[in-house]
Amino acid sequence: MIWRGLKVVTHTIMGLEMPIVNQDRYILEQKIIPYFLDKQEFIRVLFVGCGSYTKHYEKWFRQKEYWTIDINPMKKIYGAKKHIVGSLGDLNLSFQENYLDLIICNGVFGWGLNDRKEVEKAFTGCYKSLRKGGVLIIGWDDTPERKPFPLESCESLSQLQPYFFPPLSTSQYINLEDEAEKHKYNFYVK
Ligand SMILES: C[S@@+](CC[C@H](N)C(=O)[O-])C[C@H]1O[C@@H](n2cnc3c(N)ncnc32)[C@H](O)[C@@H]1O
Repeated sequence: MIWRGLKVVTHTIMGLEMPIVNQDRYILEQKIIPYFLDKQEFIRVLFVGCGSYTKHYEKWFRQKEYWTIDINPMKKIYGAKKHIVGSLGDLNLSFQENYLDLIICNGVFGWGLNDRKEVEKAFTGCYKSLRKGGVLIIGWDDTPERKPFPLESCESLSQLQPYFFPPLSTSQYINLEDEAEKHKYNFYVK
């Protein structure tokens, strides 16, 4: 136990890769990311929020223009070479309108991005930064402690359309494998 704790601390400090294995990651890493890696029309990608367990994503996206953003400056060590230290709410400072093809925002709503105004600003920024046909994916926990307010009440998201994601045959994936986790993925298209 102590050894495991030490290992976590050491890896975290050194900025090493530490993939997580669970159903949510399986969906993200084995279903969502591979689908977009294969699609030529999705080149400019933004991944929101970084950790030791997302560091290796840059390797997967090496054929793309892969960006990361995190509000916490300490997370830069887990970000891409093209990393932005800042809030998703200020996305317009970093990208011109219609620039991005894909935004993956997993585990950020309810994990720091909580204030309604900031959330609306963030998703409006996503809408503006995406080109027509660009896709926004929001991974979030449908639990009282991680849901500052109902995601579906966001006015900014009503600017986007639901995106039918073929590998999962839905525009909202609900993790039924692990009831306790209540992690969902919502897919939107501009
Ligand atoms: C639970 S982690 C999720 C990391 C990763 N996206 C994933 O797939 O698990 C939440 C991350 O979101 C970042 N974050 C919180 N609020 C943010 C904001 N407004 N803009 C950008 N990043 C934010 C935090 O600093 C933290 O690194």
